[in-house]
Amino acid sequence: GITNAVTATVRVPMNIAFVKYWGKADERRMLPLNDSVSANLDDLYAESTIILTTDAEADGVIVNEVPMPVGEGTRFAKVFAEFRRMIAGTDHAQAKILVVSTTSFPVKAGLASSAAGFAAIAYGLGKVGELNDAQVARLARLGSGSACRSLYPGFVHWDSSKTGDEDTFVVPVESGIEFASTLFAAVFVIDNKQKTVGSSEGMKRSVQTSNFLKYRVQEVVPHHVNLIKEAVSTADFITFADVTMRESNSLHAVCLDSLPPLSYLNETSFAMINAVHDFNSTPAGVTAAYTFDAGPNAVVLAQLTNAQRLISHFSRLPWAKFVFETKDEQLKEVLNVQE
Ligand code: PMV
Repeated sequence: GITNAVTATVRVPMNIAFVKYWGKADERRMLPLNDSVSANLDDLYAESTIILTTDAEADGVIVNEVPMPVGEGTRFAKVFAEFRRMIAGTDHAQAKILVVSTTSFPVKAGLASSAAGFAAIAYGLGKVGELNDAQVARLARLGSGSACRSLYPGFVHWDSSKTGDEDTFVVPVESGIEFASTLFAAVFVIDNKQKTVGSSEGMKRSVQTSNFLKYRVQEVVPHHVNLIKEAVSTADFITFADVTMRESNSLHAVCLDSLPPLSYLNETSFAMINAVHDFNSTPAGVTAAYTFDAGPNAVVLAQLTNAQRLISHFSRLPWAKFVFETKDEQLKEVLNVQE
């Protein structure tokens, strides 16, 4: 049995970026080349129980009942080493770290990277180790860069100019909780195979070989960050949708500009993109936006007021199998019938 232990259980959602993180300025510290802006998808979450105990022989991590490698060179080892530096000198500094995590979505579905999992581990370590927000965000970032954005509700801005260890580098966007509460997200599982080139490897290739990446980092992203922050704070869905779709396309353009090219989108992804533009060319105007990460699956955002119209539009597409995310209970019931 485990004695002399301290434990915490936490739940942290995955986030989806509207201004995309693509490229590291510092791989060891996991500092990004550019800012990004995201919001959490609350229904897709990871739950972690963290145990610090002097009774265990070694650190251990179990994700969805599968033991994970935690040896030197793994991200877990990196996060645990940094955590131990943070709590040096306390009662628990000598303890082993045990983590048991489950995700509300299949990790293999390529829906979320390991980001939600690392955010939950960081958050849990923050509780047992009594860490401050900046330390928790830094642990999450070490696990999976984008994980640091899951720690706050609503829209979140990851500021690449804040590089110091004590810096607050993730900040909520003004009116971000209010605007997020007017939206819903449909996640289209287009392909549930694991991605071919992981995001870290992909980013590295783009940083080394893409010329367009430089223009994106210097000109495109700063402009998009300003536009989207303004759109969120004024609840301007049209600008939000415009930036979101351009950002996704810009990321995948950089991927194709890399050598050898990275192609994460497939034919169905492009059919999805066209379906959203068709939906937006009715007299109702721009009422939906798509976004794709390092894989073919689509996340489509719309305002709750347009949910029914969007569902009937996409139900006509035979390949459109979707998982919904919404805080609206009434809508949830309708959506579940459709699934
Ligand atoms: O957290 P990582 O290192 O897996 O990077 C995520 C990169 C994208 O999902 C493609 C973009 C983003 O900002 O989330």
